[in-house]
Amino acid sequence: MAILLPGGAGFIGSHTAVELLNDGKEIIIIDNFSNSKPEVLNAIKKITGKEFKFYEMDYADRQKLEKVFEENQIEAVLNFAGYKAVGESVQKPIEYYTNNISGCLVLLDVMRKYGVKKFIFSSSATVYGEPEKIPLTEECKTGGTTNPYGTTKLFIEQILKDIYKSDNTWDICILRYFNPVGAHESGLIGEEPQGIPNNLMPYIVRVAAGQLKELSVFGNDYNTPDGTGVRDYIHVVDLAKGHIKALEKLDKEGKGLFIYNLGTGTGYSVLDMVKAFERATGMNVPYKIAPRREGDIATCYADPKKAKEELGWIAEKTLDDMCKDSWNYLKN
Ligand code: UD1
Repeated sequence: MAILLPGGAGFIGSHTAVELLNDGKEIIIIDNFSNSKPEVLNAIKKITGKEFKFYEMDYADRQKLEKVFEENQIEAVLNFAGYKAVGESVQKPIEYYTNNISGCLVLLDVMRKYGVKKFIFSSSATVYGEPEKIPLTEECKTGGTTNPYGTTKLFIEQILKDIYKSDNTWDICILRYFNPVGAHESGLIGEEPQGIPNNLMPYIVRVAAGQLKELSVFGNDYNTPDGTGVRDYIHVVDLAKGHIKALEKLDKEGKGLFIYNLGTGTGYSVLDMVKAFERATGMNVPYKIAPRREGDIATCYADPKKAKEELGWIAEKTLDDMCKDSWNYLKN
């Protein structure tokens, strides 16, 4: 029995593929390389010393997807095949809603047809919109997303809840990621944003490398200790391990729809991140204070208690690891 990973060549998908293979699982990756590279597949094999099946295809291609389900014994699906650039989603809402939502619906429909009802979904802390309280618990209200990307996550969560209500033989786990950063310690896989990065850590790394002149710190007048935005940065390998624990829960206990925050529970400001990066790598990160970025909130971090209690999962890597591994990947 295999675990299917649509989008398994991407940033979080590839790290989860490594953890699954290390855990002795059989996996199948499907990817159209719209935001990843074929070399990632060899890197996964090199890190783990294990083989897996791969299909180059769009996960929303029903005919091809049905063939994958016919040719293989699939027990569970972890869906990483989503577009994820916030700014781009504002420019291309139709593409985002089509790929993320219609694509996911095709996947769920094909799963149902082949009787595969174990599903783990990559959601995001973005579904909380303006946080009701900090730290964020899974019970906090959701909604009020500020961009189509975030809204696709919110809508898919609702779709999954409706599916479960209609048929409680599904086992569904929604994982709300906070801010994934870092890379595999091997330096062989990591995050590779196309063009100029939007997210903080990839931007810092490129400034340190001299590829970009300086970091713009988006606002220093927030109601936070140093005035800059505070986030819950989590190492991507910890995040990947969260999926293993979620799968274990569905395997052991099954029958239910579960929602977990995957975060560290600690918030760091933009300036904390700059300082931590400089300390961890010995590199210089010049920055200037710039106006606030539209849609940004002051503070966002998780209460990770539920994942600890119910999944036995906690984030183990340090901020130093996140910075060193991000840098190590770029250097490689
Ligand atoms: C964003 C998305 C979130 C998505 C996540 C992916 C929003 C509202 N949220 O989170 O949905 O899941 O990316 O990782 O868009 N910053 C700077 N300068 C920069 C870049 C960022 O100061 O050049 C600051 C931001 O203002 C923020 C912090 O760094 O305070 C983190 O920003 P970013 O990495 O973009 O993540 P989020 O906005 O938290």
